[in-house]
Amino acid sequence: MDLVQVHDRAFKPFISAQEIEEMVQKIANTINADFASEELTALVIMKGAMFFASDLLRKIHVPVKVETLRAHSYGDNMLSSGSVFIPESVADLSGQNVLIIEDIVDTGTTIAELIKHIAGQTPKSITVAALLSKPQMHSQVLSIDYVGAEIPPAFVVGYGMDYAGYGRGLDAIYVVVEPEPTT
Ligand code: PRP
Repeated sequence: MDLVQVHDRAFKPFISAQEIEEMVQKIANTINADFASEELTALVIMKGAMFFASDLLRKIHVPVKVETLRAHSYGDNMLSSGSVFIPESVADLSGQNVLIIEDIVDTGTTIAELIKHIAGQTPKSITVAALLSKPQMHSQVLSIDYVGAEIPPAFVVGYGMDYAGYGRGLDAIYVVVEPEPTT
């Protein structure tokens, strides 16, 4: 098995670049159908969603404006911190079909906070596209409109997702190798 070392941990292959491409195409096809006669404002949640958004947006064929927003919750750890830091004000989204683009929904705290943040601007609609979701980790009921794959609650890196700041540039997604028990 081709392990990769990211910072101080080993990771093993989980979702290939080919599978990612198929997941992204499927989401794009659905969005193209759902918004066929509409316009979209994509809100890309940095930094993790940048690779997913870059590929997804090139497959979306309805008129789309792109905004970015920095939100983060993991810090340098493998566990979501439970609090979300949203430092910037968002562009004016009133009356727009806002498509939030996220790499992963883990506990769901980030996406829930973002939706609350954006809803205050009275957009026409808010939808969420997440490449990955960990339903077993969600701490609340969430409505994620477009999901590439639901995964178990293991820590993953690559395709935009990092461990301690590293690993975002991997073109596939890898899952952490848990150390063997010592006893
Ligand atoms: C990750 C990911 C989501 C969030 C999901 O971001 O990109 O935004 O965590 O976790 P949650 O569902 O438990 O809130 P992170 O905080 O790692 O920042 P980053 O995108 O800059 O890596």
